[in-house]
Amino acid sequence: MIEIETKGARLPALGFGTWELRGATCREMIPVALELGYRHIDTAQAYGNEAEIGQGLRDAGLAREDLWITSKLWMDRLAPDLVPGALAESLERLGTDYLDLLLIHWPSEEVSHLETLAAMAEQRRAGRVRHLGVSNFTVAQLAEADGAGVELLANQVEYHPFLSQDDLRAALDERDMVLTAYAPLARGAVARDATIGRIAEAHGKSPEQVALRWLVQQRNVAAIPKAGSRRHAEANLAIFDFSLEAAEMAAIAALGRGRRRLVEPSWAPAWDAA
Ligand SMILES: NC(=O)c1ccc[n+]([C@@H]2O[C@H](COP(=O)([O-])OP(=O)(O)OC[C@H]3O[C@@H](n4cnc5c(N)ncnc54)[C@H](OP(=O)(O)O)[C@@H]3O)[C@@H](O)[C@H]2O)c1
Repeated sequence: MIEIETKGARLPALGFGTWELRGATCREMIPVALELGYRHIDTAQAYGNEAEIGQGLRDAGLAREDLWITSKLWMDRLAPDLVPGALAESLERLGTDYLDLLLIHWPSEEVSHLETLAAMAEQRRAGRVRHLGVSNFTVAQLAEADGAGVELLANQVEYHPFLSQDDLRAALDERDMVLTAYAPLARGAVARDATIGRIAEAHGKSPEQVALRWLVQQRNVAAIPKAGSRRHAEANLAIFDFSLEAAEMAAIAALGRGRRRLVEPSWAPAWDAA
C-alpha cells in the first residue's frame, strides 16, 4: 500500500468508498475490506451508514491507530455553531473518539466557509479530528478558504481517466494538498474504454485496476473506489504489484480532455473550466 505523506499525515492512497453501501451489506463489507488490507474508510453523514461502519469496525477489532477514517459534514450542518454537535454525532455513530479527516462535503452559498473552517479547527484543537479538508471545492473556493488560515489536507473531488481536473490539480499541488479521487472507476465506465483495455491487457490486469493504478501513481493523489463485494474489493486492492510507464500514464491522461463529469447535482458549484 502506498501512503501519502504530507502535512504530518500518512494517508493510505487507496481507500474504501462507501456511498450506497448500507445496512447489513455495509456492516459485513467493512470487516471484509479490513481483512483484505484496506485501512482507509471513506464515509459521510449523508451516506446514512456511519453506524453500520462503526459496527463493522468493532467486529473487525483492529487498533484504532491503524485505521484512517474520513467523514464529511453535510450542507445543513456547516453553520459554525452546528459543527461541534454534527461531529459528535458522527463520532458516536462510528464508535470512535476522533476522525482522521473531516471534510466540508459540498461548498455552500448559505454559509461562510471561513467560519465553518474556523469551527472545524476548534474541533481539531480539542482532539476530535486530526486533519481537515474540503470536498467539491473549485480553485476559486480553495483560494477563498486560504483566508481561514486553517491547514487543509485534502480536497475530495471527482477524478478519473475521463475528467482531467488540470486546474484543480495545479492549485492543490501549490498547496501540497492531496486530491482524493471519488468515482475513480467512473462508476464502471473505465471498463469500456479501448485505450485502458489495451494497457490492462499488456499488464495482465483489469481496466479497473489500471484506472486505480493511474490515479495512485500520481503525486498526492488518493482513490476511494466503492465495492459491494469481496471480489471487487480484493481486485481493487491488487494494484501495488505493477506500475504504468510514462507513455501509458500519458495515454490515459489524454482521455481526460473529453471531460465527462458524472456527479453534477443541482447544488454543485460552477466547476473549473479545465
Ligand atoms: N465527496 C463527494 O461528493 C463524493 C461523491 C461521490 C462519491 N464519493 C465517494 O467516492 C466513492 C467512490 O465513488 P462511487 O462509488 O461514486 O464510484 P466508483 O467507485 O467509481 O464506482 C463504483 C461502482 O463500480 C463498481 N466496481 C467496484 N469495483 C469494481 C471492479 N473491480 N470491477 C468492476 N466493477 C467494480 C461497483 O460495483 P459493486 O458495488 O457491485 O462492487 C460500483 O457499481 C463513494 O463510495 C464515496 O465514498 C464522494
